[in-house]
Amino acid sequence: MRFPDPDPTLAFSPAAIRAAADVILSGGIVAVPTETVYGLAADATDADAVARIYAAKGRPSFNPLIVHVPDLTAARALAVFDTDALALAEAFWPGPLTLVLPVRAESGIASLVTAGLDTVAIRVPRHRAMQTLLATCGRPLAAPSANASGGISPTRAAHVRASLGPSVPIIDDGATEAGLESSIVAGRTILRPGPVTAAMLATVLGDMESGPEAPAIVTAPGQLASHYAPRKPLRLNAEIAAQDEWLIGFGAVAGQDTLSASGDTVEAAARLFDALHRADAGDRPRLAVAPIPNEGIGEAINDRLRRAATR
Ligand code: TXA
Ligand code: MG
Repeated sequence: MRFPDPDPTLAFSPAAIRAAADVILSGGIVAVPTETVYGLAADATDADAVARIYAAKGRPSFNPLIVHVPDLTAARALAVFDTDALALAEAFWPGPLTLVLPVRAESGIASLVTAGLDTVAIRVPRHRAMQTLLATCGRPLAAPSANASGGISPTRAAHVRASLGPSVPIIDDGATEAGLESSIVAGRTILRPGPVTAAMLATVLGDMESGPEAPAIVTAPGQLASHYAPRKPLRLNAEIAAQDEWLIGFGAVAGQDTLSASGDTVEAAARLFDALHRADAGDRPRLAVAPIPNEGIGEAINDRLRRAATR
């Protein structure tokens, strides 16, 4: 099986994954779903392939990428785990948790992946498409979210196509489950809140600290803070829409659309980027979003909304 041309998209199947692995093993890039968002994957040991990711995304090169591996054994070959990291990996892998760890000198990971840092961000994804691709390639795969840099993270194949253009090969396996990027943890600090919540992490390590995302690598203030921006201005904590606003509702606040009519934050997380895409494509020049309770995964939703509103 090969990717069709035009619109190189294949529905998930073992043969489609074989085709995707062929692209990756010859130095190419493929968009593939994970349980969080669609990622844009390349062989993490092939610097040229990794450069193609940065190029396709138009991503600033100081922003390092997450490396995906099939299991803890593969992760330990790349990075040094202390007892805390081991406990988190055993509790939450495979799943939507990324650990920032000291990279091993002999890891073979291209330095472009870590943007020259002495740490690497690693995760073991749970999704069948990414898991099968990892098994078939036999290589660690670098994969940022499969959107143009600064755009909204893709939760469907159509979002990837709209953001990255006509030539990127895509494995389509429907909408992603969590709808938000993985939680990122370094030591006991949450660098990016996500589907593995602070409360879930605390059951393993006790109370965690929260810190700014990737503080060591932000070279311009606000650069990462505006990472998740839709094209239109976004107003937060809106109860009522102005006439020119597209309101994304939640719970009792109804709008043009809703994250969850029943007020369920997990459902809201899964729908968040979809709703932002729809709002951005809608017929009103401004966006507004209802208040979201700042509990559990609501914290991660509010983190993304603050970034989406920063311009
Ligand atoms: O759910 C996810 O994590 C998705 C799927 C595809 O796995 N990936 C994703 O990757 O969100 P990306 O590249 O969009 O976000 C990676 C984040 C960035 O904010 C980056 O700065 C941070 O991880 N990061 C990567 N390596 C790091 C490191 N060594 N130290 C601190 N932060 C790091
Ligand atoms: Mg991203």
